Amino acid sequence: MTVQDKIDGQNDWIDPYWLPFTPNKAFRADPRVIESADGHYYTTSDGRQILDAFSGLWCSNLGHKHPKIVEAMKQQVDVMDYAPSFNFAHPSIIELSHVVADQFPGDLNHVFFVNSGSEAGDTALKLAIAYHRMRGEGTRTRLIGRVRGYHGVGFGGISVGGMVNNRKFFGSLLPGTDHLSFPYDPHTQAFTRGMPTIDPEPYMQELETMITLHDPSTIAAVMVEPFAGSGGVYIPPVGYMERLREVTQKHGILLIVDEVIAAFGRVGHPNFCGSIGVVPDIVTVAKGINNATVPMGAAIIRDEIFDAFMHGSKAGVEFFHGYTYSGHPLAAAAALAAQEVYQTEGVYEHVQSTMGHFEEAVHSLKGEPHVKDIRNIGLAAGITIENRGMPADRTTDVFKHAYKNGVYIRNNGDDLAIAPILTFSKDEIDQAVEAVRAALKAVA
Ligand SMILES: Cc1ncc(COP(=O)(O)O)c(C=O)c1O
Repeated sequence: MTVQDKIDGQNDWIDPYWLPFTPNKAFRADPRVIESADGHYYTTSDGRQILDAFSGLWCSNLGHKHPKIVEAMKQQVDVMDYAPSFNFAHPSIIELSHVVADQFPGDLNHVFFVNSGSEAGDTALKLAIAYHRMRGEGTRTRLIGRVRGYHGVGFGGISVGGMVNNRKFFGSLLPGTDHLSFPYDPHTQAFTRGMPTIDPEPYMQELETMITLHDPSTIAAVMVEPFAGSGGVYIPPVGYMERLREVTQKHGILLIVDEVIAAFGRVGHPNFCGSIGVVPDIVTVAKGINNATVPMGAAIIRDEIFDAFMHGSKAGVEFFHGYTYSGHPLAAAAALAAQEVYQTEGVYEHVQSTMGHFEEAVHSLKGEPHVKDIRNIGLAAGITIENRGMPADRTTDVFKHAYKNGVYIRNNGDDLAIAPILTFSKDEIDQAVEAVRAALKAVA
């Protein structure tokens, strides 16, 4: 019996499976089951090829089943399937901490491995609070995030994050959080190409006011993404991150930058902060670190913070935190191979040489039915669509239409997102954009 036979013939086959971040009832009525993946394509249970224009979930940056990554994982599993992460290390993970730290700016020299972007976010927030305490500033516990921010689904991440649906069902969340507004005004910024050039100062003034209100002595960290990815691909203006660094530093507040989407090529560089010369105190990564072949994330930490833990704590464990699967050997082997591919196969250069074409292509959708705004950075684009009265009603239909026509993009609320695999050719970029155009024309 094939998978498709099971889907068609047994109404309850899918039933025990509860899908994450998915309208499950609708899914059961119209399931989408992927059976295999190779290169830039998925193959569905009904035997169709789907161009992956969302890199899995912003994560399969190098495409699927890259032979060098697959080979590295096979070799690793033959040598060692698992090693305890507490009190032990293994060669691949030590090697990887060098490879990762070397690519981040300034003295971001220490890497704490986890298994996801959510865990990386919560790890960074815990580090920030504990760091201040180590230095005798235990009153610094407040955390400031930003509207539209997405830092995963742990309680830290949803508290500091700024996505309403991810927060409103889950009680009072972490106490002592506050949120900056997002620097976006649809009236003046719609259809901006790349990073907007609006003045970031009003947003810095807002932060200063918030800091004055709470007093700097109560604030541990500010956490933001370089651009809001899951929040719909909204892009802060040129100079915003640089100014955020200055303001946080002035008040002794840590700056945590969530590069879970941005790092490892999405903006044509190993990471966004390095590309603009900003050194945050902690950077979080996941996804593209090992091309998503095995779950992995990390928090990358500056010397001063690491040293505060090493010197500030009494003998014994310096940071009471970690996971069974932190630095899993298979994830580490995949990451070492993926990092080599980024460097040796010219992936960053390829993104730089295709992102102009991508910008032209996505902005050619201006004027298509229901399109209210288009935004882009690197190989990421967000397209806001007028709904029919219910949030996400039309974008859901656009997503389904594109999928039926062989292209996977993502819909999130009234935004569509395109995030091509970084090795897409210009033709494949066009194919993805044309599928969106066809869907917009077809969907009433
Ligand atoms: C910026 C950002 N941070 C954190 C996360 C959470 O990562 P994960 O789903 O691996 O927990 C995501 C996931 O999309 C993300 O985009």
